[in-house]
Amino acid sequence: MRRALTAVLGAATLLLAVLVAGAPPASAASTLKEAAAAKGIVFGTAAAQSHMGESAYVSTLNREFNQLTPENEMKWETTEPSRNSFNYGAADQLVGHAQSQGMAVRGHTLVWHSQLPDWVEGISSRTELLDVMRNHISNVAGHFRGDIDYWDVVNEAFQDGSGARRDTVFQRVIGDDYIEEAFRAARAADPGAELCYNDYNIDGRNAKSDAVYAMVQDFKRRGVPIDCVGLQAHLIVGSLPGDIQANIQRFADLGVNVYITELDIRMQTPPNSQKLAQQASDYRAVTSACVAVAACKGITVWGVTDKYSWVPDVFEGEGAALLFDDDYNKKPAYDATLEALGGDPGDPDDPGDGSVTCTYTRTAQWNNGFNGQVTITAGSSAVSSWTAVLTMNSGQDIQALWNGTPTRNGNVVTVKPAGWNSNLAAGASASFGFTASAPNGNVSDPALACSTP
Ligand code: G3I
Repeated sequence: MRRALTAVLGAATLLLAVLVAGAPPASAASTLKEAAAAKGIVFGTAAAQSHMGESAYVSTLNREFNQLTPENEMKWETTEPSRNSFNYGAADQLVGHAQSQGMAVRGHTLVWHSQLPDWVEGISSRTELLDVMRNHISNVAGHFRGDIDYWDVVNEAFQDGSGARRDTVFQRVIGDDYIEEAFRAARAADPGAELCYNDYNIDGRNAKSDAVYAMVQDFKRRGVPIDCVGLQAHLIVGSLPGDIQANIQRFADLGVNVYITELDIRMQTPPNSQKLAQQASDYRAVTSACVAVAACKGITVWGVTDKYSWVPDVFEGEGAALLFDDDYNKKPAYDATLEALGGDPGDPDDPGDGSVTCTYTRTAQWNNGFNGQVTITAGSSAVSSWTAVLTMNSGQDIQALWNGTPTRNGNVVTVKPAGWNSNLAAGASASFGFTASAPNGNVSDPALACSTP
């Protein structure tokens, strides 16, 4: 959300100004997004609409991240499954969620050889494919115009090893200039979004990143509209390129921003303490490399939890690549990343604020209204406060709410504790209830997310 992002960065600037002015330093941030904001960058994750019904998934997403990348929902096979017939349902829901939480959004991705429908693969005329590609970009980027902070305009167009162009239908049928034509179409469709080229194995210097570097240099020289490069950073524990920071810096020196767009660091499973410690050190190194270069504006991990990572599906016997384990527990890599962002993970033995989960139950309904109850439950450690966010459906309006303190913003109702039900011991629960009107008989369940504090 462009405006929200500006607000976050504005707050970060204010914080820095206060520090420079010599005021006592505020206490160090305890979440990734707060620590990143204090550094003037975003910390995001890929998210999948199919998991948004799981309260621990949503509460972790909302608590830790201020940028969201739809994992699959904006890809060509989903947005234009048949020619000139567009589908934005799941992507709209994710963008709406991001906006309700003040998260920036990365659009992923407009032109990619994978998850591309067969009808595109079958085109053999340059004029026709150029037309189809421009039409796709103009519709998709046009639909989300104003809502996307950065677009991955073209994804994975180069081969590993040689740095030659990847053999795709776009390369074969249109030729080398398909990439610049895609960027021109994206700029026309959404002039306010940053336009990125995104790829994997370009995190350090090698033949492939040299080829991308040469392309960006050429685009800048000729005025092709490109604003940023995305280093995906799908990495392996203990095998990081040693020159990530230098590589980020050389792209920055071309006058583009750099983003770490799909960070995960996989290992042979099962994890053990030694592998988790190495992973923590690797996450710290990648995060520090970004923080050290002013033009590196954000880090995005490729998923909220190991439970839903793409890695085990593709690399047999590998996984555990993310910051939260299958049960949403913070891994050593989480603490290392937070520290590299200048945050403070706190004392792991201190039963401070942990995480909460929440559930919704419709307890009564009648012709034009219903009662609902929300129960918030602390995880394995105590929490000192909680927040529940209800997104009401069309026509639904909360008329009374008890055992909680509501604030309404349109159809989004944020509920804080009543006071006496703020502190929850590990595993303990608090509940609040409400009565809502439903004049059109729509008693369907509101969306629910909860977090601490
Ligand atoms: O939605 C169907 C489901 O209906 C079906 O039952 C199931 C059976 O396999 O497949 C589901 O689709 C899967 C889809 O993810 C949604 O979960 C596809 O098979 C699966 O191939 C697809 O994988 C995605 C992959 O891109 C495709 O290339 C991953 O989730 C996604 O994380 C991954 O992301 C890519 C980035 O876009 C680009 N960079 C690399 C990165 C990792 O591969």
